[in-house]
Amino acid sequence: MPSVVEDTLRVTNDPNASIGKISDIISQDMSLATRVLRLANSGYYAIPGGATSIERAVTVLGIDNVAQLVYTAAVFSHYDLASREPFSIREFWKHSLGVAMASETIARELGLKDPSLIFLSGLIHDIGKLVHFQLAKEEFMGICEYAKTERITVLESENALGHPGHDALGYELVRQWRMPLMIKEAVLHHHDITALTATTSTLAYPQHVGVVHLANLIVHSLKFGSSGHEIVRNPSVEVVKRVLGNDRVLVHLIKSVKRTLEKVEPVLGAMLPAET
Ligand SMILES: [Fe+2]
Ligand SMILES: [Fe+2]
Repeated sequence: MPSVVEDTLRVTNDPNASIGKISDIISQDMSLATRVLRLANSGYYAIPGGATSIERAVTVLGIDNVAQLVYTAAVFSHYDLASREPFSIREFWKHSLGVAMASETIARELGLKDPSLIFLSGLIHDIGKLVHFQLAKEEFMGICEYAKTERITVLESENALGHPGHDALGYELVRQWRMPLMIKEAVLHHHDITALTATTSTLAYPQHVGVVHLANLIVHSLKFGSSGHEIVRNPSVEVVKRVLGNDRVLVHLIKSVKRTLEKVEPVLGAMLPAET
């Protein structure tokens, strides 16, 4: 994990966090600072008159929003962007950013605390797929290929072919990174209907994990990016009720997420080089 993510997590957790402190962290890394500024000026964050310095960006956007910029700038990598179907890294990042922004949108509408942590949970919920792709590219491509031909999800394909699930692989990574518990739970349980609907939840953050779970399904249903499979699964009524309180809110949330995703393209453009 880039140390800047660790530092930012620490600062955003600190009730005495100051704009100066977070600006200092970002400014220590020139290339990160440049990426953060590029993102801040990408149109999604709409800083009036633009931002020419990190201090100005942090002052206008606030610590939570800047934390998101740092996470996006630090986590996005240009690793093998040439990779194409059935697993395109470019489409994978689009899916990941979509789920991050959708999770944050839903969390804000529900009035949940820690929106920037939920954003980061969404951003790396499928990091296990990247782990598998990096360790054994051909094998992972085979999993995605099988998911597409059988019209099943990547997780179902991983199970069917006897490979470790991307949830477990991702968890191993974020555990080693000593990420906060909310993130570890979101990575390990984002497909875990049993844990999300248990009468007495074994999770410390069942609602946050549920938000990432729903955000993932909504982003899939809106066909925003791709994470290795085409099939779209509907959320279980049970999970929807548990996470949102009732199932009528869902339609409203899908509309909010759609509006958010319409604005994401400039952020992607600021992060990834133009397609060749
Ligand atoms: Fe997943
Ligand atoms: Fe996903």
